[in-house]
Amino acid sequence: MSNIKSYAERIKNFDWSISEKELGYKEGDVINIGWYCSDRICKMGKADKLALIWEGLGGIEKKYTFNDVRLKSNTIGSFLRDLGIKNGDRVCLFLDKFPELYIGFLGILKIGAIAQPLFSAFGDESLHVRLDNAETKAIITQKRHVSKVRKILDQMPYVKQIIIVDYDGRKPLREREIAFSMDEVEPVENLEIFPSKAETTSVLHYTSGTTGQPKGVKHVHYSIISQYLTTKWVLDLREDDIYWCTADPGWVTGTSYGIIGPWSLGITQCALDTGFSAGSWYKFIEKHRVTVWYSAPTAIRSLMRAGDEVVKQHNLSSLRHLASVGEPLNAEAVIWSEKVFGKPFQDNYWQTETGSIMISNYPGMKVKPGSMGKPFPGITATVLNPKTYEPWEESGKIGLISFKPGWPAMLRTYWGNEETFKTKFKNGWYISGDRARIDKDGYFWFVGRDDDVINTGGHLVSPFEVESALLEHEAVAESAVVAKPDEINMEVVKAFVHLNPGYEASPELELKIMNFIRKKLSPLAMPQEIEYVDSLPKTRSGKIMRRILHAKEWGEEIGDTSTLEDDE
Ligand code: PRX
Repeated sequence: MSNIKSYAERIKNFDWSISEKELGYKEGDVINIGWYCSDRICKMGKADKLALIWEGLGGIEKKYTFNDVRLKSNTIGSFLRDLGIKNGDRVCLFLDKFPELYIGFLGILKIGAIAQPLFSAFGDESLHVRLDNAETKAIITQKRHVSKVRKILDQMPYVKQIIIVDYDGRKPLREREIAFSMDEVEPVENLEIFPSKAETTSVLHYTSGTTGQPKGVKHVHYSIISQYLTTKWVLDLREDDIYWCTADPGWVTGTSYGIIGPWSLGITQCALDTGFSAGSWYKFIEKHRVTVWYSAPTAIRSLMRAGDEVVKQHNLSSLRHLASVGEPLNAEAVIWSEKVFGKPFQDNYWQTETGSIMISNYPGMKVKPGSMGKPFPGITATVLNPKTYEPWEESGKIGLISFKPGWPAMLRTYWGNEETFKTKFKNGWYISGDRARIDKDGYFWFVGRDDDVINTGGHLVSPFEVESALLEHEAVAESAVVAKPDEINMEVVKAFVHLNPGYEASPELELKIMNFIRKKLSPLAMPQEIEYVDSLPKTRSGKIMRRILHAKEWGEEIGDTSTLEDDE
């Protein structure tokens, strides 16, 4: 029997107090995610239970019990406090999927500081705009990435300390740098946990929009109420599970469901910090007897492409539940996973802003391949008519996916950008920015985004950020960035570029420009193709009409461009 038992029963009279009670929380109490995910689990008698099984490059393996996680997060918290980090200060985690990333996250929260995880493949410019926005006080990083921090350090007077977790003494430390090894220092048995309350800020995750700089999505400690219960009912985690969330904690799935969800339930999880290959992933599942696997469509499509033979070479019989998030999960991938793993990947939908799963397929509920499922109990979801912002009355109409505000993990604002935050609400609904239709059985079917943001392999890329970075290249006069279709990543970045006088369009220049973006922003944001153009389609007021270029890439009707001109 699954944890949720019956979806139909759970949606009746649902109340988040179910989660509060299970977590032993009452309104007004202290609620600290760091404590909940380690100290509380130890208090419940699971101190010696494995919390994290970690594998890195070269097959190195490390294991941490809940007591280790408790002590080491205490140690990190205490170290940060000694450095002068106080509650409310932003501390960035700029790390590969090291154990320090998972445990450091809790350490930051334990002292009431705000964790700001950033994807370690970000280049210096992506890093800089996000640190600048948060005025980050300390950065926890590693040798491999510290050069990117050094490059921009002069422009960041607010950064007081750079903590290097794998310093080997070979090269001297520079200004503001300090070494810290979680596994070597004396563990701190007792740490004074910051008495955070429900609305105390916990995490800042950055997400990209169509216009403007990335937005810092502000979450609070109370978010654990949603994350705990969605993990329990959607991912169906149980006492003896070995759980694997393939997401990187540089992004929200990796924190909500790669740290907070499983550890608030006291579940053992594994993490693999190596690149992707079908063989190594299956080997990992086989070796650790993974039971619950939470991944993403691009990975599933890549596994599908690797073929069925490699699946058969491994014993994957431990798997009992599979879930997916981040981008549209095509029906074909659902059917394939059922064929080769004996169970389908069950899709769910949410966003950095929602903080927790909003729409999902549940264990025991009929899966309609290609559908995202139904709203989580307690979540009021609909699709709104884009003209009136009223819910469509009949089923099957395409509208804006929207939610009634008030679930525990909902973003509280965008950091330093309340104005944009306010634009996310219309007629009392939170507007997600995605489009879907609801069928007569209440299942949601994803249609597409309602903006120009590119979702490449489950990662959002802002065309604005890429266009701005392109302008910094000496050869580029103007550019327009859109998504182009891709079999595996669904969408990849494509740039239309108008060159400055004196520059010749050539494949060499294309490579140079691509590399320029990869280093500045990230491999995800790097255009996979650059098309040289003499001019770009523009509105009368001079704004570039990305939609025309987008439609061409996708072989869609361009429609009446005179209306587009006013729209843009
Ligand atoms: O466009 C939707 C897409 O990913 C966006 C959220 O991305 P992010 O904030 O980075 O969070 C990702 C992890 C939750 C959404 O606005 N998306 C997410 N899940 C799905 C999806 N698109 C289609 N199907 C999904 N299941």
